[in-house]
Amino acid sequence: MLPGSNHGSRNGSPLRPGFGATTSYQVDSLSVADELHPVIHAGRVAVVTGAASGIGKAAAIEFAKLGLKLAIADVEGDKLAQVGKELMHIVGEPNVLVVRTDVSKLEEVVSLRDKVYEAWGEVAVLLNNAGIGAKGTSWAGIDNWHKIFDVNLFGIVNVQQTFVPSMLHQENPSLIINTGSKQGITNPPGNAAYNASKAAVKSLTEGLAYELRERPDSNVTAHLFIPGWTFTGLTAAGGNTPKPAGAWTAEETVLYMIDKVRSGDFYIVVPDNETKREVDQLRIMWAAADVAEGRPALSRWHKNYKALFEEYMREGLAQLE
Ligand SMILES: NC(=O)c1ccc[n+]([C@@H]2O[C@H](COP(=O)([O-])OP(=O)(O)OC[C@H]3O[C@@H](n4cnc5c(N)ncnc54)[C@H](O)[C@@H]3O)[C@@H](O)[C@H]2O)c1
Repeated sequence: MLPGSNHGSRNGSPLRPGFGATTSYQVDSLSVADELHPVIHAGRVAVVTGAASGIGKAAAIEFAKLGLKLAIADVEGDKLAQVGKELMHIVGEPNVLVVRTDVSKLEEVVSLRDKVYEAWGEVAVLLNNAGIGAKGTSWAGIDNWHKIFDVNLFGIVNVQQTFVPSMLHQENPSLIINTGSKQGITNPPGNAAYNASKAAVKSLTEGLAYELRERPDSNVTAHLFIPGWTFTGLTAAGGNTPKPAGAWTAEETVLYMIDKVRSGDFYIVVPDNETKREVDQLRIMWAAADVAEGRPALSRWHKNYKALFEEYMREGLAQLE
């Protein structure tokens, strides 16, 4: 049976389970410190990789506004230093650590951890955000493939291997947020290496969440942050163009993420002005159904499935809205 053929009921198919109520999201109402949250609150420590621009910079600023101490890391040393200055204005100079770090190099990540623990003795929020992207096919650009995996996947593996053992010994609860991508779930054609690296991030973060959850006395949780279309250096070709109407700002994406982390969500699928939550839900279900139903790979982009996919989306949205 195809998911698109399941007429009538919201609950009639394991491929289309009942969706929870979806409410529209009010970003404006969020910039308020929730002092009751055990991890994201004033005085605790956040480490953000890829903090020199885009989502990482916006996250560092929001954490600083909430009164957290900040250790920021990025390969772009000059830009990182600028962000450091901004953070010092918000949260005070002694509460900001600027550490130029290439996350793909284990020894630099070890040095980052040592500096953070030497300064503050703990990590409350570890945001693995550093990432790079490039277009390309599956059979060309081997150097590109290595580079993308070195940063997007092994950057996170390096940080996890280095920080998690220390975080597990902390008395206070803490959390790890790994940045994936919708492209790591639905796999749209055109960015083969990027998509594969982000699929690996999903896989490793799910494994991490399980391992942490099963460990007796673990006080650490993991979260998979899946940004929507966000206007940043990565998506704006240098950032000299105006924000497209469909994209969210990095601040909007980060505020949404912080709200969902506070609620304890593992999968944090962020919408944007072009793709609402219901559209993501249906696309994710369709992609999973390729495997379950034995359809051709990436059938969403297969000419023989075009009409069926469009019908599935139309009907699915009509049911969900
Ligand atoms: N912008 C989007 O629409 C979008 C969508 C889905 C996922 N993401 C993910 O969000 C994360 C942040 O991306 P962004 O959009 O803010 O892009 P960005 O380019 O503005 O920021 C990425 C940052 O990572 C840094 N970086 C790159 N390689 C590094 C390394 N080896 N070590 C340390 N830092 C390194 C860059 O210098 C940059 O400051 C990435 O993981 C990206 O894949 C972004």
